[in-house]
Amino acid sequence: MSEVVRLSLSLDGNIYEKLQLLVEQSGYSNRSEYIRDLIREQLVENEWNEEQQVVGTIMLIYNHHKRMLSETLTELQHNYHEDILASTHVHLDHEVCAEVIIAKALPGRIKSLADELRQQVGVLHAELSIGTTGRDLLTEGI
Ligand code: NI
Repeated sequence: MSEVVRLSLSLDGNIYEKLQLLVEQSGYSNRSEYIRDLIREQLVENEWNEEQQVVGTIMLIYNHHKRMLSETLTELQHNYHEDILASTHVHLDHEVCAEVIIAKALPGRIKSLADELRQQVGVLHAELSIGTTGRDLLTEGI
């Protein structure tokens, strides 16, 4: 952990009030923690624009009654077996399945996997959440 540095900010009054509201609504105990996490979020977003390993989660909702869909989704995931850390399948009802896939790879690989899965007929929803290996956040000590 690096040393704590104090800084002061100049903000327009309206923006300041909005910041106060955001901090209160999100349940943070102080502004510093809120702003620190905003910075972390931005750093993780930046990681996804660089050529470095990131972690991403793909949430899929699909109709498993669609012919060959389950097989196709499995086949696609096998093409990315080196990138996928884990996946979980849940049967939501008689027809609909949810699958969560956690991958660690270069951003482009994870985006391609998400795109290929999303494009299959019978996939009702696919969402990619961007994450991080956390390595840069650790070394930056924030
Ligand atoms: Ni299922």
